[in-house]
Amino acid sequence: MSRLKNKVAIITGALGGQGQVAVRRFVEEGAKVLASDMAARPNGEVAALIKAKPGKVAYAGGDLRDPKVIQKILKAALKHFGRVDVLFNNHGIMVGKPFLDTTAEELDELLAVNLRAPFLLSQAVARVMAKQGKGSIIHNSSVGGIVGFPTMAAYGASKGGLAQLARSMASDLAGFNIRVNAICPGVVDTAMPRRYLKGNGVEDQAGAFAQMAAMHLVNRLAEPIEIVNVALFLASDEASYMTGAVIPVDGGLTAI
Ligand SMILES: NC(=O)c1ccc[n+]([C@@H]2O[C@H](COP(=O)([O-])OP(=O)(O)OC[C@H]3O[C@@H](n4cnc5c(N)ncnc54)[C@H](O)[C@@H]3O)[C@@H](O)[C@H]2O)c1
Repeated sequence: MSRLKNKVAIITGALGGQGQVAVRRFVEEGAKVLASDMAARPNGEVAALIKAKPGKVAYAGGDLRDPKVIQKILKAALKHFGRVDVLFNNHGIMVGKPFLDTTAEELDELLAVNLRAPFLLSQAVARVMAKQGKGSIIHNSSVGGIVGFPTMAAYGASKGGLAQLARSMASDLAGFNIRVNAICPGVVDTAMPRRYLKGNGVEDQAGAFAQMAAMHLVNRLAEPIEIVNVALFLASDEASYMTGAVIPVDGGLTAI
């Protein structure tokens, strides 16, 4: 279990459904992890890991829309671990609203969190990776960035932008031996789809989940680990020939 031995990873959205699993699995595979999320202090699995594995996990909190927070995260990673080999831009928000009802403020917020923050954090981290001569950056995009869904125009635009950012960054950073890839999950069983249903006043959550499951060939939602497994592979040297890829991890949703 040492696929990420000697690697230092920054993982954003680390207190969320996929983030917590990512922090645990990256540490299990030998990485040191700087975990980051909105909350000032870590909680749940990340707080437990900091206690259980001293020197393996550190936490820096704050809103990634703030460029000062981006600098804070990078500084914390360098202070605790001295380098950065992997950046998993995993944080994100979803607003599910019909195109005609989506406000400019909602669009701005989605773009600021889901696109601008990963752009600026990647830029800051890639400068360090360039000096080190190697790195892997992974964006957590979405199938919403590949195909069009009702009520997902603004979210899809932000995630489509993030997927394209991976391709363009890969072009610019290949010369520095930095790989950049995006993963595009189908619906993952975390708080995010539940918040979406609640926000849209859906009372029959079980029925709505069954409908969501049916969009995937495998007829179920993803478990967070099934997405994290792909991020872990892309973070590791096993993926040394992969860059600029936009990878559906979607139980076949985009195959049909
Ligand atoms: N759950 C799904 O169905 C699904 C599907 C496709 C893609 N995704 C993407 O996967 C990623 C992880 O989502 P998840 O399913 O774990 O959901 P989640 O809501 O559990 O986790 C998202 C995390 O991002 C953090 N975050 C949001 N805005 C932030 C900000 N401004 N600054 C710092 N942190 C911020 C949240 O605090 C939260 O912990 C997201 O990018 C999401 O868009 C999720």
